[in-house]
Amino acid sequence: MTRERIIDNSALSPEDEDFILNLRPQSLDEIIGQRDVIEKLRISIQAAKERDDAHEHTLFYGPPGLGKTTLAHIVASEMGTRLVATSGPALVRSGDLMGILTNLKAGDVLFIDEIHRLPTIVEEFIYPAMEDFRVDFVVDSGPYAKTINIELKPFTLIGATTRAGLLSSPLRDRFGIFHHLDFYNDDDLTAIAKRSAKILNVEIKDNAAILLACRSRGTPRIANRLLRRVRDYTQVKADGKINKEIAEKALELENVDKLGLDGLDRKFLTTIIDIYNGGPVGIETISATLQEEPDVLSEMVEPFLLKIGFLSRTKRGRHATHLAFKHLGKSGGPQAGLFEQ
Ligand SMILES: Nc1ncnc2c1ncn2[C@@H]1O[C@H](COP(=O)(O)OP(=O)(O)OP(=O)(O)O)[C@@H](O)[C@H]1O
Ligand SMILES: [Mg+2]
Repeated sequence: MTRERIIDNSALSPEDEDFILNLRPQSLDEIIGQRDVIEKLRISIQAAKERDDAHEHTLFYGPPGLGKTTLAHIVASEMGTRLVATSGPALVRSGDLMGILTNLKAGDVLFIDEIHRLPTIVEEFIYPAMEDFRVDFVVDSGPYAKTINIELKPFTLIGATTRAGLLSSPLRDRFGIFHHLDFYNDDDLTAIAKRSAKILNVEIKDNAAILLACRSRGTPRIANRLLRRVRDYTQVKADGKINKEIAEKALELENVDKLGLDGLDRKFLTTIIDIYNGGPVGIETISATLQEEPDVLSEMVEPFLLKIGFLSRTKRGRHATHLAFKHLGKSGGPQAGLFEQ
């Protein structure tokens, strides 16, 4: 990522990380929203504890900033075990994982973020670890090569991914539990904004919390980030209490519109509309025009635009819908019949 985006979901500065860590819920009871997921986790955690087993291998998937990492930490703490965190791109060779796996104690959680980016060679090494709690390690090479079989303690692998579709099916099949995290509704986000404001010791009016929620693109991380911007603005320009008018002004300054779309979202849509007549246009083409990575667009921009019905994806490419035309004040728009799903 080349630039800071206020509703950017990734690339945290250490300062942001600190900020967010304070706000991260520590137990299932503290989690707001995602009720189905939480209910199922309560059951699987209690069942594993009663059997004195490790929790089943679990995959969390969904757009960035919805709480996958948070939930992985919570599973470990509710199970009363440790969590060891790593990520797909950090594991280059199977040896990288070897040390981690052999040091796990019974019941520990191994958290692999961005698990869709695990190199194939490491992925294959993980299969027997997940299935039978053992690893086959090859030492030496050529005629002297031998495989050493190492037993592991029963552990829990928790994977997180924004792109479940990119997981190979052998890897996917080895998870026992799948939880899809979806965008949060405005009520939940309002509650999250209020909770965070309380932790940060700043007063926020109900209508200001609702305003923040509506502009957070369904994402708690964005709600927290917008809250911080608004808090700064309020501290400098007002009396420190966040009210609706102040929040509105602060977000305007940050270029966040009424639906929470920022400059990049709007540029993405106007490119489709102005340059490609509303679509269809391929993501690679849009990415070349905007000079943004296709992955950034498909992971951080598109999911929410799809969700609010501003974008549709067809075999032939991306289309801006009439809602997008309307929101951006553009005339024209897709006509019935031309619009194949
Ligand atoms: N249900 C929730 N209630 C309150 N706050 C939440 C909730 N879910 C997430 N958050 C807040 O949002 C932040 C982002 O969550 P988290 O880092 O777990 O997201 P993620 O899904 O792992 O994102 P990524 O895919 O970018 O790694 C957390 O630090 C926490 O402050
Ligand atoms: Mg995460």
